[in-house]
Amino acid sequence: MTASSGDGGVYLDWNATTPPHPSVLAAWSAALSSGWANASSVHRAGQRARALLDAAREAVALLLGFEPGDVALTSGGTEANNLALLGLFPPGATGAVVVGGVEHPSVARAAASLAARGIAVEVAAPAPSGRVEPAAVARALAALPNVSGPRVVSLQSVNHETGVLQPVAEVAALAHRARALLHVDAVQGAGKLERSAWGDADLVTMAGHKIRGPKGTGAVAWRRGVRLVPVLAGGAQERGLRPGTQDAAAAAGLAVACRRAPEHRAATAAVAPLRDRLERELVDAGARLGIEVVRNGTAERVAHVSSLAFVGWRGAELCAALDLEGVAVSSGAACSAGTPEASAVVAAMAGAARAEATVRLSLGETTTAREVEVALEAFRRVLARGPAPER
Ligand SMILES: Cc1ncc(COP(=O)(O)O)c(C=O)c1O
Repeated sequence: MTASSGDGGVYLDWNATTPPHPSVLAAWSAALSSGWANASSVHRAGQRARALLDAAREAVALLLGFEPGDVALTSGGTEANNLALLGLFPPGATGAVVVGGVEHPSVARAAASLAARGIAVEVAAPAPSGRVEPAAVARALAALPNVSGPRVVSLQSVNHETGVLQPVAEVAALAHRARALLHVDAVQGAGKLERSAWGDADLVTMAGHKIRGPKGTGAVAWRRGVRLVPVLAGGAQERGLRPGTQDAAAAAGLAVACRRAPEHRAATAAVAPLRDRLERELVDAGARLGIEVVRNGTAERVAHVSSLAFVGWRGAELCAALDLEGVAVSSGAACSAGTPEASAVVAAMAGAARAEATVRLSLGETTTAREVEVALEAFRRVLARGPAPER
């Protein structure tokens, strides 16, 4: 296979997760032997583990543009987003939230659980282009009731399915004028964009595995003065915000992934010509077979992602057929329970029928022209066979 996918196939699902970088694997596995102790222990073994956590916190802080003292390490993006949102509202608190209409479920469902607790929640609908326009956020902010307690806007930096860049800087200004905090889910943006992309955000979240770090690592960072409470009950680890014995070895891998982010950013940006070729040739292949191939998300986007609807096909079926040909792509968001669902993001932008027909291709640092050719050949074979009849 490719160096990255490990099974002889072509891996075009980098937005789901990335293969750990060799330098990450080296640091991580060395730390499994040297940094396995409990970082809360005062003995030397414990202090070795603590030093690994501190180094990871520093690397995350540098990547996101915050102070190391204002970073809590988490088990990934989902936990970081939950902590950022739920953590602003202590039990019994009132308050108000605006979320973008194409957020990851770890934001959308955290907001829904706040709504179930009586917090006012408004959704800022996306435009058909995939962008959540500042005007939509302004409307949602204006629709919030005048309640006491925290007000927060949550907007991702980069959409996980379309790669569309969200107008974070403009929304930061809007949110602050409305005396609301801004949380940016930068799980798909950290290590892909310069940190100025979320410059004025009050809380930023990331996940290590999207930038070639270990699964199960992530972080939330906050501006000084932002007050969070823990979501779980337990010990005082991670500034009292995230109880539980930390995984210092995984943190060592996270630190390396964060430090090599400039390399990741440049190499990911460099796949744009391959992504564009893939898109162009799929549209042409479709046209020759009488299949309309439509791009989801016409707004400005990152270089490595393509969300395409193959009209008349079910995206999940196309993914399964491509998998048999050795090409890994995805339909919808991550198949979180192993069951592919149509993309909620595309449904919000362009309707359920478009979502049903959608496949996401996401390239990465090690994607080669040869892999793109192999993927195109597989697509042509699968599309030429035609979709299975509806059952
Ligand atoms: C935009 C976005 N936010 C949050 C998450 C959740 O991150 P994790 O899988 O590390 O829990 C993802 C994962 O795909 C994502 O793409």
